Amino acid sequence: MSGEIAHADGDAGLIEQRVNALLADMTLAEKIGQMSQVNAGEPDAVDTLGDPLRAGRIGSIINLVNVDEVNELQRIAVEESRLGIPLLVARDVIHGFKTIMPIPIGQAATWNPELVEAGSRVAGLEAASAGINWTFAPMIDITRDPRWGRIAESPGEDPYLGSCLAAAMVKGFQGDDLAAAGTVAACAKHFAGYGASEAGRDYATTNIPENELRNVYLPPFKAAIDAGALTLMASFSDLNGVPATANEFLMRQVLRDEWGFTGLVVSDWNSVPQLTVHGLTANDEDAALAAAAAGVDMEMASDTYSSHLERLVAAGRLDEAIIDNAVANILRAKFRLGLFERPYVDTSALPPPASDEALGTAREAALQSVVLLKNDGGTLPLSQDDLGSVAVVGPLADAPYEQLGTWIFDGDPELSITGLEGIRDLVGDSVQVNYARAMETSRSTSAELFDEAIAAATRSDAVVLFLGEESILSGEAHSRADIDLPGAQAELVRRVRQTGKPVIAVIMAGRPLTLANIVDEVDAILYAWHPGTMGGPAIADLLFGLVAPSGKLPVTFPRMVGQVPIYYNQKNTGKPASPETATLIDDIPVRAMQTSIGNVAYHLDAGFTPQWPFGFGLSYTEFEYSNIRMNAHEFRDGDKLEISAELRNAGDTAATEVVQLYVRDMVGNVTRPVRELKGFRRVHVEPGESAIVEFQLDSSDLMFCGRDNTPILEPGEFHAWIGGSSEAELRTEFRIIDNN
Ligand code: BGC
Repeated sequence: MSGEIAHADGDAGLIEQRVNALLADMTLAEKIGQMSQVNAGEPDAVDTLGDPLRAGRIGSIINLVNVDEVNELQRIAVEESRLGIPLLVARDVIHGFKTIMPIPIGQAATWNPELVEAGSRVAGLEAASAGINWTFAPMIDITRDPRWGRIAESPGEDPYLGSCLAAAMVKGFQGDDLAAAGTVAACAKHFAGYGASEAGRDYATTNIPENELRNVYLPPFKAAIDAGALTLMASFSDLNGVPATANEFLMRQVLRDEWGFTGLVVSDWNSVPQLTVHGLTANDEDAALAAAAAGVDMEMASDTYSSHLERLVAAGRLDEAIIDNAVANILRAKFRLGLFERPYVDTSALPPPASDEALGTAREAALQSVVLLKNDGGTLPLSQDDLGSVAVVGPLADAPYEQLGTWIFDGDPELSITGLEGIRDLVGDSVQVNYARAMETSRSTSAELFDEAIAAATRSDAVVLFLGEESILSGEAHSRADIDLPGAQAELVRRVRQTGKPVIAVIMAGRPLTLANIVDEVDAILYAWHPGTMGGPAIADLLFGLVAPSGKLPVTFPRMVGQVPIYYNQKNTGKPASPETATLIDDIPVRAMQTSIGNVAYHLDAGFTPQWPFGFGLSYTEFEYSNIRMNAHEFRDGDKLEISAELRNAGDTAATEVVQLYVRDMVGNVTRPVRELKGFRRVHVEPGESAIVEFQLDSSDLMFCGRDNTPILEPGEFHAWIGGSSEAELRTEFRIIDNN
């Protein structure tokens, strides 16, 4: 069999034959071995795991990043186990391995799938050189809750943007040829609905009506699978009463029956025994049964499969056909990945980590991920010629580790170039840089170091304040209920403001923060997320106008946390608010009658609008939109829609705009969102020039899951907008008409 090289998708039939032949030869114990992934991230992995590997008791390992040890374990699996089945070697390579890209929510702010693909390619290649052949990425949980720490890892709130980025990351990790050196299998996670955790508390319950699940939370997973994702991970969370790890509706009905997924599903870390903690099962044995029966092919970390599945089969509680199916999914993934032909890693065939190309990709990704949220009076860009001195202040100005963000097990802070370094490198001797940390960490409540910062600000022509959240304040299990700037940062801003100098806030954070209490105290805001290894130079380029900012928000920014969830693609309600109908608390007359203010959907104290909407981001130029056009205004099922607008750069700076297309289906058999993103494009325009930006849609792009939860295209009226955010005003209308 060894001569028959079965590559990727080309030879699905041959792979099936090989899977079946192998399966027919396996004992039940060997099959269960394939279904077990063990943690190898302990000392002496080779000694500890050697014997179970020889006995065929392990299908995959996680957390070993020593390539020699990986190769040795692989050798034991291939040469010393009865069937010679190679190992899947897994690791969380989420937004970089050694070279760290911006956190995924930051990458989403680039609205640049090609760049995101390139970043994942870099991450995959670097990880492959440490022996990894399976990454637990992309994380594609749609979320509308910035309190949730894992929003840092997510593509944000929009199913369409999330789907584009899901596909891009899968392509980046898996490349064109799954069996090629340097390819790692992608794992779309967490299936599904995890981003709706109640109150943004990690691991909390999710309740998502099936219609919303299908229209909002599932599309990125479908996109990842369509892009070829080899594997999926079940979520920790309880979905509508059945934890995802035992959820047959998700893993059998949707994933296998409807979508025809033939890859492998892995549990999350210990999520099988946690079924008992959830209260779904009484003990580990029942948990193993529930997970396996529902379609979890491989168990991560815990050992309920290896401890109980054999007995469950013997007792007639679990059909061996279910096990065969799971093992076939696992073997198929291994064959597709070319592991039988190329089990060992040859590092000489891979680029060294942190190559110039990798760092260049990280820098470009950081550059495009930063969103300019405010720029009063053209404060930015700063001018190297006019500025004598600049104060660089704040706990995140020179914090190489913090700027990398969450999930950077293997990231190297030594490679980081900080904001302070980036600014110094850029301005050289032309501008005096006065640095003051001002706070020990982003959480410090002490004002002890403020005086030094105020002194630095006072003797400078402008102040760049690096604020936000240090890395540990976001990520898994790092949720916050108060999403203001932590610690004494707001106080620092007020004190610096009093110096009368122009104040520019550069905010590094793992989530959208509520900035209402500082937004009027600063002249400009650059939102940099956690920008990764090359954050510093990218921020310096933007501050000094070498490049104009082009990032756009992939998630709505609330004014205050009580507005959450607030998102652009909401439903209209029967009583939508408007500026005329929403009376804010300060405008309510004294002793007003209870019934005297508008009965509409808003908060008395926050209104109904966000601080900044989805899709928003300023530039150093002004963009103007006009001439929205369509190839027709009536379409039938099967037709192509072409819709375009003219984009003019009305300023004097060359810049890139993310042009966005939104649609509203005016009437649906289930209510439809007030707007839905249907296309976007990054367009570079020179000053004074214009570009015609065209989008093409198939009528099927207007389908949605209707009342019976199947996809439909409904005849009727649609509105469409093209512009620079989800509040785009340039509108046209069209109809879908019945084919009969
Ligand atoms: C996370 C997953 C991750 C896994 C392995 C879990 O706690 O939820 O996203 O892939 O750990 O590290």
